[in-house]
Amino acid sequence: MDFEQVLALRQTTRKYTDQKVSDSDLEKILQAAQTAPLAAGDDKTTHLTLVKDPALMEEIRNACMLTSRKTGEKIDALYGVQAIIFVSATDISEDHIEYSNTGCVIENILLQATALGLGSTYIWGCLKKLRKNEEVMKKLCLPQGYEILSAAVVGYPAQPLTPRKISRKISVTEL
Ligand SMILES: Cc1cc2nc3c(=O)[nH]c(=O)nc-3n(C[C@H](O)[C@H](O)[C@H](O)COP(=O)(O)O)c2cc1C
Repeated sequence: MDFEQVLALRQTTRKYTDQKVSDSDLEKILQAAQTAPLAAGDDKTTHLTLVKDPALMEEIRNACMLTSRKTGEKIDALYGVQAIIFVSATDISEDHIEYSNTGCVIENILLQATALGLGSTYIWGCLKKLRKNEEVMKKLCLPQGYEILSAAVVGYPAQPLTPRKISRKISVTEL
């Protein structure tokens, strides 16, 4: 897929089908993550965790479940998706540059997923619930001293991705 097309098609998916992403596509997505820019030396202190095991995915989904303030209903903050990639880091610096690294890694994941015709979502809000769930955190087998900073989910979108018209939604000063 042409790069401009990928940019136009990349969008946050909030409803996934239960179709599994192939291992070869997941491998391409992990490779794309590997090409992200990271601050000097941080490739040694960054870690990725891919979860596609259905039973563990369900445990993560339950641990991430949010509750609607309006209705009290449970909300699947992972939108029915079947695969998640966590980005973790250790030795978090005072200036928190690791969060910038994470943003770069996640964006590569989102763009590669789009290029493969997949939906994708940056996952942040529900992770504080997950971090508190010791039982599930243990099952994620993070290397000693690492903490989850962000995550991305990838899967087949319930609705096809539709290209957006690229506009200046972010204000720009040109000098
Ligand atoms: C740092 C960051 C955290 C985000 N966290 C979440 C999240 O927890 N759940 C979610 O559904 N979307 C999350 N998003 C997606 C944004 O809501 C989304 O990118 C924004 O609404 C623009 O929509 P678009 O991605 O379709 O262009 C996050 C995006 C970023 C960059």
